[in-house]
Amino acid sequence: MSSTTQKIPHGPAQPYATTDDLLEWMRTNFDRYGDIYQASVYGDRVYVINDLQYVDRVLLRNWRNYLRKGQAVKRIALSLGNGLISSNGDTWVRQRRMLQPAFKSESIRLLFTRFTQATIELRDKWRDAASRAESVDVTHDVSLAVLKATLLAIFGDDYEAIAAEFAPIAEESRNLEFVQLCAALRRRIVEIVNHRRARGGSAYDLIDFMMSARDRDSGEPMTDADLGRQAMTLVIAGHETTASVLNWVWHLLDEHPHIEAKLAEEIARTLGDSPLEFDGLAKFTYTNQIIDEALRIYPPLWLMTRRAITDDHIGDYFVPAGTEIYISPFLLQRHPHLWEAPDEFDPERFDAETNRPALAHCPFGAGPRNCIGELFARIEMQVHLLLIARDLRLRSAASASSEFVAGVNLLSRSHFRMNPEMRVDAS
Ligand code: HEM
Repeated sequence: MSSTTQKIPHGPAQPYATTDDLLEWMRTNFDRYGDIYQASVYGDRVYVINDLQYVDRVLLRNWRNYLRKGQAVKRIALSLGNGLISSNGDTWVRQRRMLQPAFKSESIRLLFTRFTQATIELRDKWRDAASRAESVDVTHDVSLAVLKATLLAIFGDDYEAIAAEFAPIAEESRNLEFVQLCAALRRRIVEIVNHRRARGGSAYDLIDFMMSARDRDSGEPMTDADLGRQAMTLVIAGHETTASVLNWVWHLLDEHPHIEAKLAEEIARTLGDSPLEFDGLAKFTYTNQIIDEALRIYPPLWLMTRRAITDDHIGDYFVPAGTEIYISPFLLQRHPHLWEAPDEFDPERFDAETNRPALAHCPFGAGPRNCIGELFARIEMQVHLLLIARDLRLRSAASASSEFVAGVNLLSRSHFRMNPEMRVDAS
């Protein structure tokens, strides 16, 4: 096709102004230009897409041409180094292959008690608050509990030795101090690795799985620097995302008492007083639908970016090499052509067999560069919700605002403050 006939999507003449809310700007321009438009964002030529066929081309059919992340990831690379989130090309292929076994079901099963430990501590704290009729800062407490679960899964019995140093992760905003903190923590991880080598033996945690991993071609283990980068990547990728979903879940349940009651009923019927087991988790259909629905309306990673390596076509549109592609799970998952009443929280929409295309729900991304931690996160969220909602419900004193801030993750603008109440049959 000659360059004169190549079709380029329309779009706003003015570049995106960095003072604008990027998510709102993207949404407004879809209303104006349709499900693909071209724009200038942070000095790059960007195609913003919200059509499943186009997304399929980028994340699945021609994924190799979009293996590079967009410029936005550079900010993350600054904190995490060239770990799995920000690496590209052959480095990414090698890193992904080495990390993948640590995230298989057999590995996550071994981390199960780490998730229950962190959750039971939070449940007990909230039970105490309930007995004293005190309110709790749900956003803050969930963030700490998820950080603990993540650190326990990664560092296992070394948790106590590192907990205090990692604690600021739950508080720190993504600024220069955060970059410095991450660099110091990467060095700390290398110290832990060296202690383990000197100590010998093995542990059931992610550091151990990563230390045992070997490159398929060279047979080499990860270097110390790589172990530091990857473990730090997992802490950051796993913490705020999961904490954000659970924070929204508690808010949504508070706003929809009939859904909360149905959740309690499923837990009483399916779990009762029995211990929670890894193999039983799939039985909690409604609980899992609540999690899927929260992931649909508040996907923490609301933006994925890619960079075209060579020229391509998306639908009829020509994509010159170097073009950045923006895909928002938030906007896809609220697309009125894909979802009925998209802004409503309705877990039962996941009930029926529908012909909805898989990509319409993509909170963990899609294709070979999807979230490596999806199963980890899902198990952690199920454990959290089941063990806490079995004993407690959370109620806000006054109606809380659902406003959000779309930074790196989609967070609630204010912390949710609620009163834990014991279920009558759980006291
Ligand atoms: C609810 C929780 C989570 C959500 C919604 C989520 C979402 C995502 C998404 C959408 C991507 C793809 C980004 C892209 O295509 O640009 C991703 C990548 C990734 N996630 Fe998650 N994530 C979650 C939890 C976790 C956890 C618990 C871990 C690890 C412990 C983790 C580790 C990663 C890593 C390392 C990548 C990069 C994968 C690669 O590029 O090969 N995530 N995540």
